[in-house]
Amino acid sequence: MKLILLGAPGAGKGTQAETLCNALSIPAISTGNTLREALKSGTEMGLRAKSYMDAGKLVPDDVVIGIIKERLQQDDCKNGFILDGFPRTIPQAEALDAMGVQIDRVIDIEVADDKIIARMSGRRVCEACGASYHMEYLKPAKDGVCDKCGGALVQRKDDHPDTVKARLSVYHEQTEPLKAYYEKQGKLRIVEGQEDVADTKRLTLAAVEAE
Ligand code: AP5
Repeated sequence: MKLILLGAPGAGKGTQAETLCNALSIPAISTGNTLREALKSGTEMGLRAKSYMDAGKLVPDDVVIGIIKERLQQDDCKNGFILDGFPRTIPQAEALDAMGVQIDRVIDIEVADDKIIARMSGRRVCEACGASYHMEYLKPAKDGVCDKCGGALVQRKDDHPDTVKARLSVYHEQTEPLKAYYEKQGKLRIVEGQEDVADTKRLTLAAVEAE
């Protein structure tokens, strides 16, 4: 199964990517995580991406298309994959088509902007392994400590409210047109993001399985 997860920043793509990864035993590929790891290791790509990410803008298409091209050639992608946060522009979607990748389903997780702004202020991520939590909806067992690896939980720089607003406006302008792009291909399935993470998981799994 080859899946794309679409949705605004903070709609819950990362959370659902993890669910699908476990349920379908295929890798979840997040361009955001790859860029953050590159930045942490101080690579040229990471440094190039930093100013865009900190400002809530999209990293140039050539950088992220390069990441995906390389990643999809790896062995673990042979039986399928979940793309979390790619494509995010029409040229990125066209590049994926040009690579000959046959996507089965595109799951769009819909959450209203005001809910997203509230959610993002509560998100905390593990500095060490990148696992995502929420101070209200998805609490770690011990405050400030990652359940998975014991790392420290911190707020992402781009989760500050002004940057979230900038990311939302980029989303509406450049990413939302992808819904029509995949609707035309008959691949789009819409999931209304719920207050409860478990409810969204159920709807996402149903959308993947639906004809
Ligand atoms: P990226 O990391 O992909 O950020 P994003 O799309 O903005 O998505 P997020 O990770 O912020 O949110 P999410 O939808 O995964 O939500 P999550 O599950 O964490 O990209 C970062 C940056 O990298 C971009 O801004 C850009 O600069 C660059 N970039 C990446 N890909 C690119 C591309 N293709 N092209 C160009 N640039 C690119 O959930 C959010 C919070 O809500 C969590 O705390 C979670 O616990 C909570 N939550 C989740 N579900 C629920 C629920 N149902 N109810 C209540 N709370 C919930």
